[in-house]
Amino acid sequence: MADIGYTYGYYTELNPLNTQLTFLYRGVAPPKIANACELGFGQGVSVNIHAAASNVRWWGTDFNPAQAGFAQDLASGSGAAANLFDESFEEFCARPDLPQMDYVGLHGIWSWISDENRAVIVDFLRRKLKVGGVLYISYNTQPGWAAMVPMRDLFVEHAAVMGSPGEGRVARVDAALAFAEKLLAANPGFARANPGIPERMKKVLSHNRNYVAHEYFNRDWEPMSFGRMAHWLGPAKLTYAGPANSTELVDAINLTAEQQALLKEIPDPNFRQTVRDFCVNQTFRRDYWVRGARALAPAEQSDSLRRRSVVLTTHPSEVTFKASGAQGEVALNESIYRPILELLADHTPRTIGELEQVLRPREVSFGQLVQALMVLGGKGAVYAAQDAATIDAARSTCLRLNRELMKAAKFGKDLSHLASPVTGGGISAPRFHQIFLQSAVEGKTQPDAWAQDAWAVLQSQNQKVVKDGKPLETPEENLSELRQGARDFQEKRLPILRSLCA
Ligand SMILES: C[S@@+](CC[C@H](N)C(=O)[O-])C[C@H]1O[C@@H](n2cnc3c(N)ncnc32)[C@H](O)[C@@H]1O
Repeated sequence: MADIGYTYGYYTELNPLNTQLTFLYRGVAPPKIANACELGFGQGVSVNIHAAASNVRWWGTDFNPAQAGFAQDLASGSGAAANLFDESFEEFCARPDLPQMDYVGLHGIWSWISDENRAVIVDFLRRKLKVGGVLYISYNTQPGWAAMVPMRDLFVEHAAVMGSPGEGRVARVDAALAFAEKLLAANPGFARANPGIPERMKKVLSHNRNYVAHEYFNRDWEPMSFGRMAHWLGPAKLTYAGPANSTELVDAINLTAEQQALLKEIPDPNFRQTVRDFCVNQTFRRDYWVRGARALAPAEQSDSLRRRSVVLTTHPSEVTFKASGAQGEVALNESIYRPILELLADHTPRTIGELEQVLRPREVSFGQLVQALMVLGGKGAVYAAQDAATIDAARSTCLRLNRELMKAAKFGKDLSHLASPVTGGGISAPRFHQIFLQSAVEGKTQPDAWAQDAWAVLQSQNQKVVKDGKPLETPEENLSELRQGARDFQEKRLPILRSLCA
């Protein structure tokens, strides 16, 4: 799929710092990461943010030259240590100048490449991933995808048989989706036997077309079971180390008591994951694997956890006391979560040991605190923070990268994150927030002035604010909406961006 550009997504799972709390929570020694590599970096937003925001040296490739070009421009703008290429996996993995890696990340790659390419990557991991090094890998899996397999085959066959190459990729994608809708409207037996399909179809239709083209219309597409994945990674001597989304670490949110008991009876850790995927009807796995999992003694585990710092990345009023997992929405105990949010409300990093001390009189135990931090991590509200020296060293590259990202967002690219020297990763900042921030950086102090600036940007590009799926027509409607957005931004997001991205 080299003829259609990918989205400008940022993925926090690819931030190497995220490994630390997950590994410690599971009682496994976390990796020390100096050299890292991302294979198939798309537009390169994640790799650039991670290179600018930490002291990790990055390498990466994506064979789409337009995407690699955008990524290289960002890297030269930030001046961060990111060596980015437009080589195929085969070419890149054979480069003689690559160091041994502490971390290799692949997001949204494995299910969409051929077996030959999978073999290239596993061989790379075997040769280049250090002992103790970590692989982050995400992939489509069964059983959650099982019912969609025939639908994806239908899309692809429609595009091949009914579409013509001359009409372009997007037109073929649209035509195939329209045909699938027509089929479902005819109430086929397949939809009756798989009642979740119409809902899944709605989701497909709601996605950006570039995303849909890459997800469903790629030549290769294979949802793989956990067991087969473990088999693939065997030659690289990798062991499963845990989920990258920390909500998945907390069984109570994802499994019934009966399911937890069933899983406990299974001695083989890999088979346990396969069975867990049935329990939660898993569609997409985001996992860490490690070359040699070293178990920590319980005292070492809690000591290391106490020394880690965390930071709140959301306005406390926006954090609900609910968490979503495979069991649906679960209520969180406010008497545990509220004081944690209060303590972190100034968006300054605090060690877990410090939080423990303050929370002890409020009868929050160390175990409850750590579990709550993992749940808040899964909700995207609390992230691990880097040490003070690393934060200071990363400030200037983040500043330069953020300038580039804000410029691209101003001109309409769908970029929604800025780099944070505190978290070593990205912080959510949708396009309008980036435009408001730019005005604030230029010294304008009032939200009304930021709204005026945003409206001027939109007018210069013949654009309008879209509300509830419809463009607002008059300048007054647009300005009023932008003013409201700017006031919300001033109250809830600007303090966070000032603390975390400056
Ligand atoms: C589904 S996209 C995911 C991009 C990015 N990791 C993300 O999640 O935003 C897959 C990417 O892999 C790249 N890719 C696919 N096969 C490749 C290969 N053999 N060598 C290098 N890049 C490849 C594509 O150009 C595309 O950008």
